[in-house]
Amino acid sequence: MDGPAAKQMTSGMQHDRAAGSGEPQRHFASDNYAGVHPEVLAAIAAANAGHVPGYGDDPYTAAAEAAFRALLGDDARVFFAFNGTGANVIALAAALRPYQAVICPHSAHLNVDECGAFERFAGSKLITVPTADGKLTPHDVARGVRQVGNVHHVQAAAISISQSTEVGTVYTLDEMAALGAIAHEYNLLFHVDGARLANAAVALDVDLQTLLLATGVDVCTFGGTKNGLLFGEAIIFPKDHPAIERLPYTRKQGMQLASKMRFVAAQFEALLRDDLWRRSARHANAMAQRLAARLRRIDGVRIAYPVDANGVFAALAPQHIAALQAERRFYVWDEDASIVRWMAAFDTTESDVDEFAAAIERVTAPHVPSVAAVGTRSDRR
Ligand SMILES: Cc1ncc(COP(=O)(O)O)c(C=O)c1O
Repeated sequence: MDGPAAKQMTSGMQHDRAAGSGEPQRHFASDNYAGVHPEVLAAIAAANAGHVPGYGDDPYTAAAEAAFRALLGDDARVFFAFNGTGANVIALAAALRPYQAVICPHSAHLNVDECGAFERFAGSKLITVPTADGKLTPHDVARGVRQVGNVHHVQAAAISISQSTEVGTVYTLDEMAALGAIAHEYNLLFHVDGARLANAAVALDVDLQTLLLATGVDVCTFGGTKNGLLFGEAIIFPKDHPAIERLPYTRKQGMQLASKMRFVAAQFEALLRDDLWRRSARHANAMAQRLAARLRRIDGVRIAYPVDANGVFAALAPQHIAALQAERRFYVWDEDASIVRWMAAFDTTESDVDEFAAAIERVTAPHVPSVAAVGTRSDRR
């Protein structure tokens, strides 16, 4: 079941200090609440010397591109972007014509959380399908192409999945390969929103070649922001594709070309160096597993989706959500089903998890009086 767009959080922010300690507090609201990984911050500082050409014609960008090619092979092409929304939209817009459409889960960030950026910028349509666990299936794809050739309908020309998914599940390699096969059977581009691709890669314990090339992915984004970058996402074509030629122009027109590109590139170079991307994602996933293990012992909390990556989705009574939100920041994922989302990040500690789990245990304990629903705001990032 896909969550509706309504994701709620307390509107009044408790100041972000751990109770009584003066220590900065870490939240489970989103992995983008985390700061910048120290190795990335050091790389930004190191890149801050002298003058280099702008717009990617610099040694930092060349080094970061080479680092991606070392992981993916010499045919891979990489383009850096400011953010995940832009990276998704640019990657797809470069490949599609306005009468063409993208088949994706209804829950796709592209559909629910990008303010119609794709529709506005690509001038094109999303064909959305409900899913049980955030995952598109070959059957969905086969249904989505039924009207190809009918001039009155948009023409499906791409599929888009999120890996890991919006509900924290991870497509297996077989599931991805099956999607890749059917996409190519129908001549569709296979796009992956990889805002959390690193979390999926470590969950599956595979390298990028296996994850992308062996499954037939044509283009994906590779998230940096949620994995310890200050900002920045990469658009990756694992192998040659006609859209590569158009991508630089689409990116510039789409306002995603950084003039001081060296600072985006230096961050990615740091992320790929010594497998920082895997170390950070592995840690975040492990913290989600720790939280899930604690939750399984709490009556009144039900884990709603398999915990495959760094997100835990849990159902609990609305009054317990309200009580917890009165003291913590996090989002309600699905108000109707009373499901919340808790995300772990690269800097989440074991004691953060234990302390958070203890708070959940406390508010869900039978004696806790219910708290009136809090004023809320829809949101999810
Ligand atoms: C799956 C997914 N894709 C894309 C994005 C977009 O990233 P940004 O907020 O940088 O535009 C997000 C952000 O939450 C996301 O969760």
